[in-house]
Amino acid sequence: MAKVEYRKLSQHTGAEILGIDLNQQIPQETIREIWRIFVDHTVVLFRGQTLEQPDLVRATSQFGECGEYDRPAAFHTSGQKKVLPQIMLITNIRENGEPIGSLPDGEMWFHHDTIHRKVPHKATLLYSVEIPSWGGNTAFSNLMAAWDALPADLKKAIEGRQVYNAFNYGSTKKGDPNAVAARSHAVHPAVRVCPDNGRKAIYIDRLMSQNIVDMPEAESEAILSRIYDFIERDEFCYDHVWKKGDVLMWDNRTSIHARRDFPADQVRLMWRTTLADTVAPYWAA
Ligand SMILES: [Fe+2]
Repeated sequence: MAKVEYRKLSQHTGAEILGIDLNQQIPQETIREIWRIFVDHTVVLFRGQTLEQPDLVRATSQFGECGEYDRPAAFHTSGQKKVLPQIMLITNIRENGEPIGSLPDGEMWFHHDTIHRKVPHKATLLYSVEIPSWGGNTAFSNLMAAWDALPADLKKAIEGRQVYNAFNYGSTKKGDPNAVAARSHAVHPAVRVCPDNGRKAIYIDRLMSQNIVDMPEAESEAILSRIYDFIERDEFCYDHVWKKGDVLMWDNRTSIHARRDFPADQVRLMWRTTLADTVAPYWAA
């Protein structure tokens, strides 16, 4: 088996992979080992990368099929039209007062990327091109670990249930007035099984989950708000302080992430790619 050097970034979440240049062709055996570390830790970090846009797409494709950017073309920003089609431009840079990228400013609530799609993306990669002098950290929570520790009454309340998830593109919190009008939605199991390791993971998040299907609204609201608070606890989380040249890859099946606030007068510029999935989320048996 290939020996991949790594170090854990917190108790449950995140591992830094050492000695990998994403511009190089990585042997299949090494890819498999990185994937194993990724599945267990939900996030892997590659520091010190130097990538142009085609390099990021090529690096992404080494781990699977590169997913498409899913916002409808009518709602693409001016900057989005200038990057490769597989790349989502995330930046607060403005031209003539208009943000050129998606998700421009400040804090963003915990979420799974594309949980609002019928077949959500399996993973997301984010490369830091330019970062502010402070803030803009990305926080991650491992929802397999959160499931294992979840109180029995909450496990009983959500297992076997379905959740309605919805997203207005560009929202950074529920009811965001700056979001675009286009809305995407999908119903998924509240608890899903990771096909790579068989572990159960909570599949609910504060930004995009709206209600538990076939449950009275007040009851659903009370359960979801307890779940949100539980899964965002520090004990399950890793808070990533970005350096220029970092690539993070996270598992959208088993983790949530949030963006911390950052100064509006400093540039934050990231390129995002995704890995497509082939199947809708599995039910937890
Ligand atoms: Fe995200």
